[in-house]
Amino acid sequence: MFDLEKLVRPNIRKLKPYHSARQDFSDGLLLDANENSCGAPFGNSSRLHRYPSPTHPKLREKIARWRGVDVKNVFTGVGSDEGIDLLYRIFCRPGRDRILTTPPTYGMYTVSADIHNIKVDEVLLTEEEFQPCPEQILAAVTEETKILLLCSPNNPTGNTFERETVRWLVEEFPGIVVIDEAYIDFSDTKSWAAEVQHYPNLVVLQTLSKSFGLAGIRLGITFAPESIIDYMMKVKAPYNINKLTAKKAAEAFDNLDTISANISAIKEERNRLRSALQALPVVQKIYPSEANFLLVKVSNAKEIYEQLAAQGIIIRYRGHEPLCENGLRITVGRPEENDQLISALKELSQ
Ligand SMILES: Cc1ncc(COP(=O)(O)O)c(C=O)c1O
Repeated sequence: MFDLEKLVRPNIRKLKPYHSARQDFSDGLLLDANENSCGAPFGNSSRLHRYPSPTHPKLREKIARWRGVDVKNVFTGVGSDEGIDLLYRIFCRPGRDRILTTPPTYGMYTVSADIHNIKVDEVLLTEEEFQPCPEQILAAVTEETKILLLCSPNNPTGNTFERETVRWLVEEFPGIVVIDEAYIDFSDTKSWAAEVQHYPNLVVLQTLSKSFGLAGIRLGITFAPESIIDYMMKVKAPYNINKLTAKKAAEAFDNLDTISANISAIKEERNRLRSALQALPVVQKIYPSEANFLLVKVSNAKEIYEQLAAQGIIIRYRGHEPLCENGLRITVGRPEENDQLISALKELSQ
């Protein structure tokens, strides 16, 4: 039987969270929070002199409707990175506990673990197919292993993980399973978000940084069972999401047709970029992608990366990652940006 309380750090279980002024009253003569309402020069018209909502229920309601979950299953954070950070803080005792990752994958899982002094165990994905190895993952679990991080579609490989493998891991892994779906809207596979209502240990991360084109506002979403969301709410900074971010995010959810059209255009452009790259002699392999980037294997990745950078074209060298020898990760840009990249690569090929 899964017991969430046993996984939570004892100090967090006992935590008395900060009680912010705006939790009880948001209207009235508000002289409770030491704000400056005496003609503050920048804020009054958009009420920026007031603290934001600590929990943004209206925005979370929109997100919940969009993914078919209850608002109690939704947490909004400063990017997905805040979600990862909070989960470590809730479940992992510094210097003692461990997380499991499946490289090659998103680097922040380990950076954040290093910041918290949490040990990282790694079980590589399979070669070429880049799928998780479920038996090896379970074999690597120790008494101290608290979180398994799966990234699907995976950064930097671009593929999604097979649904039945993920389901087996969610059911068999004794701790929290996080599925990072930063790129899910570029994929034809179904999100795991609604499944958090059925699995007590499942957490799904999404973000407005990719498919919504809003990396600058820093809005990440965590879908999780209510009991985990409650802990995240207790541990987060009192006013983590600012008013400007909440406003832009809400506007985006009122314009989902535009977002969908934009995603379709990126997927088409991904195909066009793939075909153009395939025709270049330096390109040895382009891996299948369900994200807004392509992992490309070339003959001399470091050199190409540096030569492009010298021309002001910046892509990501991934050749140092396991299973990614001579790998370059290329974001699908606007058509004219992709054209510029393709012609630069053509020149380099000559
Ligand atoms: C897999 C993955 N998760 C999360 C993020 C970061 O998301 P956010 O901007 O919401 O912090 C990235 C960014 O590149 C990513 O590749």
